[in-house]
Amino acid sequence: MCGITGYVGAREASEVILQGLHTLEYRGYDSAGIAAFANGNLAVVKAVGKVQNVEEKVKALGTLNGAHCGIGHTRWATHGAPSDINSHPHGNERIQIVHNGIIENYAPLRAMLQKNGYTFVSETDTEVAAKLIDYHYANCHDRADALIAAMRDIVGSYAIAVLFADCPDTLYAIRKDNPLIVGVGEGESFVASDIAAVLRYTKNYYQLGDHQLAVVTKDRVSILDMEKTPVEHELLTATWSIEAAERGGYAHFMIKEIGEEPEAIEKTLRPRIKDMLPCFEEEGLDDSRLAGIKSVTFVACGTAMHAGLVGKTVIEKLCRVPVNVEIASEFRYNDPILNKDDLVVIISQSGETADSLAALRLAKEKGAYTLGIVNVIGSTIAREADDVIYTWAGPEISVASTKAYTVQISLLYLLSIRMALAMGKLTEDAARSYTRTLYEDMPRIVREAIALEDEVAEAAALFCDYEDLFFIGRGIDYHLAMEGSLKLKEISYIHSEAYAAGELKHGTISLITEDMPVIALATTSPLYEKMISNIREVKARGAEVLLITREGAKDAADEAKKVIYLPNCSELFSAIPLATILQLLAYHVAAKRGCDIDKPRNLAKSVTVE
Ligand code: F6R
Repeated sequence: MCGITGYVGAREASEVILQGLHTLEYRGYDSAGIAAFANGNLAVVKAVGKVQNVEEKVKALGTLNGAHCGIGHTRWATHGAPSDINSHPHGNERIQIVHNGIIENYAPLRAMLQKNGYTFVSETDTEVAAKLIDYHYANCHDRADALIAAMRDIVGSYAIAVLFADCPDTLYAIRKDNPLIVGVGEGESFVASDIAAVLRYTKNYYQLGDHQLAVVTKDRVSILDMEKTPVEHELLTATWSIEAAERGGYAHFMIKEIGEEPEAIEKTLRPRIKDMLPCFEEEGLDDSRLAGIKSVTFVACGTAMHAGLVGKTVIEKLCRVPVNVEIASEFRYNDPILNKDDLVVIISQSGETADSLAALRLAKEKGAYTLGIVNVIGSTIAREADDVIYTWAGPEISVASTKAYTVQISLLYLLSIRMALAMGKLTEDAARSYTRTLYEDMPRIVREAIALEDEVAEAAALFCDYEDLFFIGRGIDYHLAMEGSLKLKEISYIHSEAYAAGELKHGTISLITEDMPVIALATTSPLYEKMISNIREVKARGAEVLLITREGAKDAADEAKKVIYLPNCSELFSAIPLATILQLLAYHVAAKRGCDIDKPRNLAKSVTVE
């Protein structure tokens, strides 16, 4: 949410920063701006709209030409509508900053600064932070002290990169609860929200910790704590390649990332399989720990929460322990009841989602054992959870999450098998047989699901002109319906509801008419006949039905306008190819409607505000 990048070195700063902002645009795209030292001046260029707009302005004005030190920002508005004025950077002739996060106490800080003679031109909390740092600097005459004083004053979350006009070759950065890395190159340095922004220049970086301050010149990085004591940090090396973070020849990141699912599943499962059994010992999850678990709570947001619902179905089926799935923004304020034998699993692609992070901290406070299932290495949730299992999905740039979800659910299947084995609910032979099917078959089966793309695109044509539709399913299919519905809403702007098929007749069936098509998911054999009855009920009210079911499902073709058959696979794991098909469906509906698929309106990836 909001992308920050900064550069100091021999290259043309505005070019490096613009490049970084294009890469970070998935984090926010309603306005952008750059500040840099050019010809001895601290120059600022900003514009409402996508990074492209500020890029054109930078070229047209030429005021940043020759700058070798600067900061940039692409915004997802929180305080103040998207506009030139509200775009970052903010500040005055002495200081410019870019900010990601929310300054919760910006109103009293603003009032205090106004009393001290400051005026404000924007509606943003960021301008308050900029002037607060300036106020402290004017009083203490020490840049690090001023930043530390500001950190003491600010309540909220922030990653902030700063330029001081009287220090033209240095980037300063501070953070709390928002990601910020410092990239280290040969005679050049970077700051960024995400390593992807600087991958074309360096793979080496430091992860700034909470309440830390980075002082960055072209050949030196110092990281200090609130007492100005230097902090030792491990220099990390990104495993992602620049190609992985770029679109290649694909029309959208979303379709590229769906295409990466088979490989991502394989990559995630392989290191956790020994002797064809799941093994999480390297992650700290040995059998004695797993065997003692009395209940599991998944906490996450959006798509990651939907992955937790799949985890619930599978763990309850294989392990027979109760599983709750909680929306992180609710969990954190609901005073949850947790004990030390409870496992709390935080699922997060970014590892930075504000509500999920708060939920993790609360679960730890309550004494539960916490496990992060996270994609981004070194992210805050990954660092703070008692243990972490990384989903090796590679960078996910599309705002709509696809491969991260498919990999999360694949991993949850593997974890469930190990838990069931540790709890004595599965024999070694049965666990081995499930593991083999998951590991050896799923990448191929997801490839087969992707090969159905043309057929899915045909089905998409049936729905793209409607403004409302329903997804229905039972059991695990209902949970997949929720994810399919979210994906479709998010990128195509079609309003859709996901309903437990048996619940429709308790009220909502009144909405079913010939103008309300229904996508029915029926991949669970014991529930198939029940689903067929529900399909007949909606057809009787005029609805067109797309049925997604298993190969060989009885009389399926007679029941729906169109049927998509899943590739033949073990029923336990059919959620995995079903997820891929639903993602392709959402993609093709959105493509036919001409939507901006990778950057849906009002959204941003990595939701680091509450
Ligand atoms: C939807 C989507 C979001 C995220 C949610 C959690 O396609 O991407 O619903 O799943 O914002 O994000 P993470 O997984 O980064 O915590």
